[in-house]
Amino acid sequence: MDRKTFYITTPIYYPSDNLHIGHTYCTVATDAIARYKRLRGYDVMFLTGTDEHGQKIEEKAKAAGVTPQQFVDRIVTGEHGVLDLWKLMNISNDRFIRTTDDYHVASIQKIFKKMYEKGDIYKGAYKGKYCTPCESFWTESQLKDGKCPDCGREVHDAEEEAYFFRLSKYAKPVQELLETGTFLEPASRVNEMINNFIKPGLEDLCVSRTSFTWGVPVDFDPGHVVYVWVDALFNYCTALGLFNDRYDDYDKFWPADVHIVGKEIVRFHSIIWPAMLMSMELPLPGKVYGHGWLNFNGDKMSKSKGNVVDPYILADKFGVDALRFFLLRTFPFGSDGNFTNELLISTINTDLANDLGNLVSRTTAMVEKYFGGKLIEEREAEPLDEELISLIRAAAGRYSAQMDKFQLHLGLEECFKLIQRANKYIDETCPWVLARDEAKKPRLAAVMYNLLEALRVALILLTPFIPESCAKGFDQIGADEKARSWDAACAYGVLPAAVAVHKGETLFPRIDAPKMLAELEEAEKKAKGPQIKVEPVLPEVTIDDFAKCDMRVCKVLKCEAVKKSKKLLRFDLDDGSGTPRQILSGIHEFYEPEQLVGKTVVAILNLPPRKMMGLESCGMLLSAAREADGKEELHLLMLDDSVPAGSRLC
Ligand code: ME8
Repeated sequence: MDRKTFYITTPIYYPSDNLHIGHTYCTVATDAIARYKRLRGYDVMFLTGTDEHGQKIEEKAKAAGVTPQQFVDRIVTGEHGVLDLWKLMNISNDRFIRTTDDYHVASIQKIFKKMYEKGDIYKGAYKGKYCTPCESFWTESQLKDGKCPDCGREVHDAEEEAYFFRLSKYAKPVQELLETGTFLEPASRVNEMINNFIKPGLEDLCVSRTSFTWGVPVDFDPGHVVYVWVDALFNYCTALGLFNDRYDDYDKFWPADVHIVGKEIVRFHSIIWPAMLMSMELPLPGKVYGHGWLNFNGDKMSKSKGNVVDPYILADKFGVDALRFFLLRTFPFGSDGNFTNELLISTINTDLANDLGNLVSRTTAMVEKYFGGKLIEEREAEPLDEELISLIRAAAGRYSAQMDKFQLHLGLEECFKLIQRANKYIDETCPWVLARDEAKKPRLAAVMYNLLEALRVALILLTPFIPESCAKGFDQIGADEKARSWDAACAYGVLPAAVAVHKGETLFPRIDAPKMLAELEEAEKKAKGPQIKVEPVLPEVTIDDFAKCDMRVCKVLKCEAVKKSKKLLRFDLDDGSGTPRQILSGIHEFYEPEQLVGKTVVAILNLPPRKMMGLESCGMLLSAAREADGKEELHLLMLDDSVPAGSRLC
């Protein structure tokens, strides 16, 4: 029999900066749901990816002096990039889409054309404010004090030819969809969408631009690129093979069971997305789930606010599983949460080191100490055992009731009720007292077995959250593959009567909070490095302009400090002409004269002579300059000594 399918997605991330813990939160949550569904026997497709087009990326690439493709490649596939991060966080996605992938681009062109041919996309004019020097369109709300947000100059009314999607046509069916109460969750977001966006009247949506080029070209109208959200939203279908032959599981997995998205993009997913699917006459996804934000000191984390938390540092200091666990245990999935390092440490210490870690280490240590690592088969049950055993039998049901509603923190709460009950059972049964009396061995074996069974079930339920630690825990308590399955999670008495255990490494060592907080501060400082100011690339010059600069290789014949000047050094240079050339340079802060004698440097020779401290400078030495931590740093440009004096730079 074919297994039931389950298709789940994360948003595809903008690779405009490295991802932070907020993005990690969203992906880890989706991963836990995907793993849970696999545990339940579903044939899961878990998709994530990157949303690589748009004006923002084009501008950032320009500022960095690289092409947009080079820019996104570095953030997606480079060191500590998106792919590295998901590997580190043990994300089990089945597929990864990049919207710059050829197959996706070609599919988007077909989709756009189809909606156009149907009449749902039409040509109109996009009205906005235009900044001529920046060649940029802005909406009224994007302006800063009525001026261009980039350069601060005056803007004027302008129109740009653009394509529009008839969103207004779909207002009624979209409202009906939202009112079903199952399409968008949590329920609180439904009213927000209807009252704030649909009731005031849905306007048609501008879906093409001509003022920048980094996007999917509209193939039937050169000069237009497809609006980035149209390009991005359809990733959920193109990644399965809609209108391309790169993949062929569209029929198997579409419609998606759930799109997990952050609250600020619920509008795109619950209004624009279903409207476009209706236009394309494609089935609608089962659900959009809008999670909250991870804030830092009450403010949304963002690179521009400088309050992002780096997941690489946290994973290195605490371990991947502890970090995954913290994110999903602490913050109710639909609501906002405030991230602090103190909360992270206390959650790990309380839940993982104390409750779970202690249960594993105490239980396995006692089986080793009292039974040499292998339980005897004789048992003596007592009525006291019943409460724990019934909790072992019920835990999976209670947990899945929460997990099926994506209430991940409440699913975890059910695991911890079982773990805490098992710890209490140790105190109630006092195994160390039973161990003193040989005749009580069968009773002691029953106690140990119940503890191992409680642990086994708890570990199954924790597997979607902390997979690696659970695998280690299963090994320690002697649970084979079958004893780790979902069926086994719903049963008591699965471990063999004479189960063999071994106490392994501590799963979650206790963290020394003050020491760790100091280490984190140090690591964050180090990761930030000096705050370097990156100069934007200057406007274009022609090759003829460049050729007017006479830059030559020179040898330093003599170098000395200029009297009464802190900064200036005086150079006699061999510029290849046979006559020494005098140049003054303000680099004494960075070099001592004796360091430079004999070096091969570069000077621009055809600047007008300039007097400084009564001395004439006939040219200028070239240096590399950067501003770090608010101070300018200069590095004199030096070449290999084999380059002869007088050689021209070209
Ligand atoms: O929105 N806490 O990409 P994105 C929780 N490309 N979630 C956060 C967060 C935080 N502090 N910061 C970001 C986009 N996120 C589009 C998606 S989908 C067709 C296109 C979440 O990289 C955010 O809410 O800006 C969003 O769901 C996701 O990270 C991607 O954000």
